[in-house]
Amino acid sequence: MIITAADDYRALDGWLSDKKKVLLVCDESLRFLTAFNQKLSTVATPMIRFSDFQPNPLYASVVKGVALFRKECCDSIIAVGGGSAMDVAKCIKLYSAQPGDGEDGAWLKAKEIDNAIPFLAMPTTAGTGSEATKYAVVYYNDIKQSVTSERIIPETVLLDPNALKTLPLYQKKATMCDALCHAIESFWSVNSTEESRRYSHDAIAGVFCHMDGYLNNTDEGNSGMLLAAHAAGKAINITQTTAGHAMCYKLTSLFGVAHGHAAILCDRVLFPWMLEHTSRCIDTRGETFLKATLDAIGRAMGCSNAAEGAQKLNSVFQGLGLAIPTATESQYEELVAGVNPVRLKNHPIQLDADTIRTLYHFILR
Ligand SMILES: [Fe+2]
Repeated sequence: MIITAADDYRALDGWLSDKKKVLLVCDESLRFLTAFNQKLSTVATPMIRFSDFQPNPLYASVVKGVALFRKECCDSIIAVGGGSAMDVAKCIKLYSAQPGDGEDGAWLKAKEIDNAIPFLAMPTTAGTGSEATKYAVVYYNDIKQSVTSERIIPETVLLDPNALKTLPLYQKKATMCDALCHAIESFWSVNSTEESRRYSHDAIAGVFCHMDGYLNNTDEGNSGMLLAAHAAGKAINITQTTAGHAMCYKLTSLFGVAHGHAAILCDRVLFPWMLEHTSRCIDTRGETFLKATLDAIGRAMGCSNAAEGAQKLNSVFQGLGLAIPTATESQYEELVAGVNPVRLKNHPIQLDADTIRTLYHFILR
């Protein structure tokens, strides 16, 4: 269920009415949410705050969060923040049903146990779509652990356009690009379904409809972008992402560009390249289906076909003024070696190492 916040957060009252004590998992963005903080100061339900986690959160932080949830006898969870706050809250929800204290990574290996802990998420960026997905990431012994469970999808999502008002402009641009790339990649994914393609279409159309208002910080623009990013999250919840995301993670670690910035760097090159190489289609639905899909992406962007859509994606990138990093030859090799093979399998066109190397040369300077 999606509830949209009015200034007085009346929408929250109904959700809180049957809760005894809430674990509020929040990052530093909470202090900028003036209206939300005012609301929290007036509600009768006690809120236990938990912020003891970092970007790329650790399993150890989840263990601490579960311990606090139990010690305080909380009966529900609210997550407020970006992707890391969502990841931590999702794992606290999932693992609080497990026996023991989670030592030695025990919960990562444990058989899932159902729990009915009410879980509300309020994203403070319009990008990750994490509030709509069954995925979470935590790190244990420096190794990334992907947690996947239908049980970690928040049953209630609170969308508040005010939460986006204080974000730095670069972060707004990058998170919007992340949402757009989720929607586009999900659309062309080999795992797409009729339902996921509807979400992708709505997300792409929403991003383009609200881009100007969002970048100019209007309420309508921010609301529209939150809904678009949420729809894109629902799309990748079904399909996962594809080559653009497989290729973009290393751009962030090598050049320090934000995740969404890295994703559009890749997708603005992948889209036109795919149009030229549909004969290498590996989607079992065939080349004709892929061509129709790429045209449908173009139309969702308000264009008449895929070629115009690919041009428009590059125009968006150029218009945002996002930098194109410069790579050395050794960095190109690092990038090729660092591509995520799991996400690559979702891509509808086969990409070998030589092709990926060539693409990186188009993506970077
Ligand atoms: Fe992403």
